[in-house]
Amino acid sequence: MTEYAADLDALRAREFPWEVQRDAIHFDHASVGPLPQCARDAMAAYELKRAEPHRLGAEDFFPVLDRARALVAALIGATAGEIALTTNTSWGVNLAASALPLGPGDIVLGSRGEFPANVYPWMAAAKARGFTFELLPLAGTATDEELLLRRIAEDDRVKCVALSWVSFWSGARIDLARIGAACRAAEVYFAVDAIQGLGPLALDVRSMPVDILACGAQKWLCSPWGSGFVYVRDALVSQLEPPAAGWLAQAGSGDFGRFLDYDPAWHHDARRFEVGTIPYQDVVGMNESLALFLALGPKRIEAHVRGLTQRLIEWTHHRRGVKLLTPDAAAARAGIVAIATNDLEGDSRKLRAAKLTHSVREGAIRLSPHFHNTLAEVEVALAALA
Ligand SMILES: Cc1ncc(COP(=O)(O)O)c(C=O)c1O
Repeated sequence: MTEYAADLDALRAREFPWEVQRDAIHFDHASVGPLPQCARDAMAAYELKRAEPHRLGAEDFFPVLDRARALVAALIGATAGEIALTTNTSWGVNLAASALPLGPGDIVLGSRGEFPANVYPWMAAAKARGFTFELLPLAGTATDEELLLRRIAEDDRVKCVALSWVSFWSGARIDLARIGAACRAAEVYFAVDAIQGLGPLALDVRSMPVDILACGAQKWLCSPWGSGFVYVRDALVSQLEPPAAGWLAQAGSGDFGRFLDYDPAWHHDARRFEVGTIPYQDVVGMNESLALFLALGPKRIEAHVRGLTQRLIEWTHHRRGVKLLTPDAAAARAGIVAIATNDLEGDSRKLRAAKLTHSVREGAIRLSPHFHNTLAEVEVALAALA
């Protein structure tokens, strides 16, 4: 048994007591992640102060945001100066679509099968800025990486690639390192929607040629709605003009004695992409969840999730009437396992009867277990589906 698995009972009792009491088995992180007790406690304490503002101190404002940027940076191998806090994934996708230097004659390549959050901002920016946004056909249930790489290498109109790290419906994972290297070699920007990948997968942007990475924290990072971030590669930060101008994006925003100077100068780091006040109480919750992830170890979490999904995948190999939409190879998936069955509604009902939270997407049952789930819980799912 790994050290991580040995700690799991204590972790569950401490952070997710409701699951030890068998209230539910949460296999739906691809929709919404539960909040660990440490985040709930911190938010409750903060809410008390928020409700009675005389209790708030200076430490409850900017230091909360500074800590968040530092925690995100530690999680993905970035520097805090490369992180802007956002309230969802879409904000970061819109930043990429509207701030990257793209214009008439340029092509941005996306893929069919993408979640709309990574499609509409590109469509709108293409219309406003005159570039072409093209969706490549899928290869089965995954992005057609071979076609994508050919286009990057052979079509010099291609200036940007915009993809999700992991598909929200099939769970297929793109090869970030391979696509990023091809983009870098061809001087093509690479923008990634990471919300379905970060958490079940560890990430080190130092070894990944990604330019902009957008991520809401509400799913696999087990954080409140309204929390998230966008990573902008260091060398790019100062080159990008913020598409939305905010008072907090200004270098002088920390000086409350000089509000009326109106001296426009963006922050030198990624704070220039922040706009105005964001929900502090949600950031407080995210901070505790991220600290928990870092304490457990992102790589150990990845290995644990792989163990859970591997069991689900192997089960599908021996079942008639069950079709796996998720790629078989561990390197081509993350925490989502999508299973098409002959009776989706009936099977979903059986899972619900076993108190197993899941979702149904694009003709398949989507199971998405995470770091606090157990193999015994996977067996409950399989027994319900048997
Ligand atoms: C791939 C992907 N991107 C983005 C989102 C959500 O975007 P946002 O955080 O902006 O609501 C989802 C899921 O809801 C998703 O699956």
